[in-house]
Amino acid sequence: MLTSGGDAPGMNAAIRSVVRTGLYYGLEVYGIVRGYHGMVNDDIFQMESKSVANIIQRGGTILKSARCMEFFTPEGRQKAYDNLLKRGIEGLIVIGGDGSFTGALKLSTEFGFPVIGLPGTIDKDLYGSDFTIGFDTAVNTAIDAIDKIRDTADAHDRLFIVEVMGRHAGYLALHSGIATGAENILIPESETHIDDVIASLSEKEKRKKLVNLIVVAEGDEFGGAMEVAKVVRERLPQMDTRVSILGHIQRGGAPTCIDRILASRVGFHAVESLIQGRFNVMVGIINDKIAYTPLEIAIREKDKINEDWLRMVKILSS
Ligand code: ADP
Ligand code: F6P
Repeated sequence: MLTSGGDAPGMNAAIRSVVRTGLYYGLEVYGIVRGYHGMVNDDIFQMESKSVANIIQRGGTILKSARCMEFFTPEGRQKAYDNLLKRGIEGLIVIGGDGSFTGALKLSTEFGFPVIGLPGTIDKDLYGSDFTIGFDTAVNTAIDAIDKIRDTADAHDRLFIVEVMGRHAGYLALHSGIATGAENILIPESETHIDDVIASLSEKEKRKKLVNLIVVAEGDEFGGAMEVAKVVRERLPQMDTRVSILGHIQRGGAPTCIDRILASRVGFHAVESLIQGRFNVMVGIINDKIAYTPLEIAIREKDKINEDWLRMVKILSS
């Protein structure tokens, strides 16, 4: 098992689940350190039940995470595969995002190696699971921070533009924005019309609604909070505008109950799935039921943002 790409709160709960389920079924379980980097460099160790004691509540990942350039090359992957073979490893569970799954899929297509993906990313940008491990914790961290920003915004009658993570996905922005009553939410999945944003701020200003909040995803096609603030300051110089970029604080912290349970469930079913001979899938949860989605579909397809949510934002923030 390895964790790879951006870490996500709940990865440790998934590691614990995989180890304890594997041992229950009499398997040997190996941890690979720093994602594919450990696989290429043979940084692999056998895990026992006590290796995962006291970690369910911890953010980060005890297996560490990394991005590994060597694994992008056929030579790197051959080295990695040889290390797995040498140790008699017969299946791989990858906890990560679409990049990590793409790497896993290569192991599967090039060497016929059985792989399973567990959705581990705060971005919630994988198809085949209602939630990904880490999203709920990250969104609650963002909400907590934005609530605090609202207090000071209210005290000074200010406009705050808050940037949340999401290089290619707007779920963190959408969920945290709705939950904090943001007046505007800017996400890559829906085109940002800056004129509309300015018009809505002007209209609110006329009504003396001076405390406003814009939540923008870092990956919005218009740009992040700095770019939005630049235009707002040019067009509405009378507004007292401030920017706050939440950054990596969203990646850390103790996982919420939802993330711990999601991670425990998918970890447990990943091991059972490998034993049953069902692999090259991502194990997720849809409508509270375990769902197995072919890895290439989990990577390629995208959940559509519900247009009702965007319509609702406009109405509720009026
Ligand atoms: P995430 O899983 O969060 O999307 P990345 O995109 O950074 O993270 O990918 C994590 C790692 O997965 C990369 O550093 C690399 O080792 C491996 N990986 C990603 N894409 C590929 C690919 N196309 N071929 C081989 N390995 C890949
Ligand atoms: O985990 C996903 C993510 O949080 C993205 O939203 C963000 O752009 C990226 O990771 C940043 O990761 P890093 O700083 O590790 O490159």
